[in-house]
Amino acid sequence: MSYSKGKHFPVSRRSLTVQIDPYSSSRATPGGITLRTGLIVGNWKMNKTASDAAIFIRALSERLHGLSSHVELVVAPPFTALHAVRTALDASSPLQLGAQDMFWEDQGAYTGEVSAPMLVDLGCRYVILGHSERRTLFGEQSDGIRKKIRAALKHGLRPILCIGESLKQRESGTTDDVLTQQLKESLPGFTAEALDGITVAYEPIWAIGTGKSATVEQAVAAHQTIRRVMATTISPAIADSTRILYGGSVTPQNIASLLASNHVDGALIGGACLQVDSFATIASVASAARSIGV
Ligand code: PGA
Repeated sequence: MSYSKGKHFPVSRRSLTVQIDPYSSSRATPGGITLRTGLIVGNWKMNKTASDAAIFIRALSERLHGLSSHVELVVAPPFTALHAVRTALDASSPLQLGAQDMFWEDQGAYTGEVSAPMLVDLGCRYVILGHSERRTLFGEQSDGIRKKIRAALKHGLRPILCIGESLKQRESGTTDDVLTQQLKESLPGFTAEALDGITVAYEPIWAIGTGKSATVEQAVAAHQTIRRVMATTISPAIADSTRILYGGSVTPQNIASLLASNHVDGALIGGACLQVDSFATIASVASAARSIGV
């Protein structure tokens, strides 16, 4: 199956309104095109105390007030700030809550770990899994990431699986192999039905926190590879409906060009999500990019 832009999306998605359906991340149009709802996720990493987080969320919610919801907006604070953020979110805020990681068991003698039921109880809807910082700094491997995906899905948390190549791998021309391997190692043993709702984030390691974003062409090529691998290893329908985010030095300046491609469904943002102004700007650019006639 080809995922070339012209063939797969005969009608520009940018010409259609995407309304948020809280129970589905995609829907089919009468023309048979899958509309994937945009998704912007702010990964706070190890930043902000609970008190700082509450102040930040109130200011951010105020800035986002009235923003038409053509994209889903998610903040992923550290575990210690999840409760404070949830409390600071009022009913009118468009922000949803996510976590940066979790363990695969529900409970037990696992010092320092946090489980899916605990995150769900705190109001989390998403969980980032397999971030390259977890892989490189904390030794995470695909086997554990797969167990985490399974546990998240079991408890109704939507996993955001992060994959991406190192600079060395890109320079040696093995990006596609690396992405294919990471997907194949993380997603075996799941039915297509179970994986409905998973999100994949393409995050080239060399672009994370470096100020050197991938080009749109590099991002699109990687997203096409991911969709192709998902089509052959899971199902064409899941490949079609799964949202693929780009992450790595996303800023208010480059978000519009990244989202201009039908292949990029949103972004996973690190540094630029820590300031109200930059996250709010990214959110509003993304929302405009997904609305009619903008
Ligand atoms: P960055 O981080 O936006 O600071 O590059 C992205 C990420 O790690 O998800």
